Amino acid sequence: MSLIKLPILIDPHTHCRDFEQNNKETFETATRAALAGGYGYVADMPNHSHPIVDKRTLGELKDLAEKQIVTDLGIYLGVTPQSVSEAEKNFRECEGEVRGLKIYMGETTGGYIVDSDDDLDKIFRTWESNKPILVHTEDKSLVKALELAEKYKRNLYVCHVSRKDELELIDKFRQKRKNNIWVEVTPHHLFLSDKMSISPFGQMKPPLSSDEDKEALWMAVIKGEIDTIGTDHAPHTREEKMGIKPPSGVPGLETTLVLLLRAEKEGKISREKIIELTHNNPIKIFNLNKEKYDRAEVVLVEEEFLIEENNLKTKCGWTPFKEMRVSHKIVEVNFDGKIGYKDGEILAVSGSGKIV
Ligand code: DOR
Ligand code: ZN
Ligand code: ZN
Repeated sequence: MSLIKLPILIDPHTHCRDFEQNNKETFETATRAALAGGYGYVADMPNHSHPIVDKRTLGELKDLAEKQIVTDLGIYLGVTPQSVSEAEKNFRECEGEVRGLKIYMGETTGGYIVDSDDDLDKIFRTWESNKPILVHTEDKSLVKALELAEKYKRNLYVCHVSRKDELELIDKFRQKRKNNIWVEVTPHHLFLSDKMSISPFGQMKPPLSSDEDKEALWMAVIKGEIDTIGTDHAPHTREEKMGIKPPSGVPGLETTLVLLLRAEKEGKISREKIIELTHNNPIKIFNLNKEKYDRAEVVLVEEEFLIEENNLKTKCGWTPFKEMRVSHKIVEVNFDGKIGYKDGEILAVSGSGKIV
């Protein structure tokens, strides 16, 4: 029985839910799912039932999360059309406590889209920080984000790139080298495509793309054009997904590492690349404590099995990767000097994670 060890994973893109959406997930269940999937750090997206946009909402999130988390947690500040007028004050008061600023430049869960040119210009101008501006973009809004980041020399982190034409566009802007542009890809865009009939459980934003796009994403991974893998873990209940208007989003924290290791076995990605995308690069981009996360590790055993829903720790209890064959099982996760997960059980105590 051969064991393998990897440094613990860092997820720059998780939706922990909680608040009025604690039927979908809570900080506790999200971070338990994270630990079971080999993650020691997740960064929470601000599109909560009430968005995290200022000192007050940031404080509420911290109060709610700190007693629950079993991994470390990062926070992003959000900005909505309603909060733009207070941008200067909010950014000044919150910049030190967050890992970056998230802007929804496309319609998605929560409905916090900012699409006025004036608002967007003001946001990019006012965020005078080296910490990245993260963008959810679809179609035309990607050009806008790239142009504004270049205009104000801001560090830009493009979430969930899913298509070949987006990669080409980003490449053009990168050649000018005026600012940092980091690119994230999700496990669902790497491992699923629009040919698979898994709707509504495969409905997310941006939607699953063609096999050609998927291949372009893998090529970009190999060529070094992708910086991180963000799970975009976005749980919704089974009932909601099966309703007449299913919400967009899929869970991903518990399946990403094993899927990547299967891809390694198939010769699609190297072990070094997996570590770069899930550990080294997120630590660098978000300026995290390298020593702490370098010491933490995930132990896996080589064993073929099918991904099953009844073993999941996420509260939503389903996965779009159901019944996919994988080649490794996570047996132990060591985090912060302790065994946090072992053989299906979470041993880490609620509240043991830190907000950083
Ligand atoms: O599919 C998605 N779900 N895409 C997003 O950008 C947001 C997320 C969510 O919060 O449900
Ligand atoms: Zn998004
Ligand atoms: Zn997201």
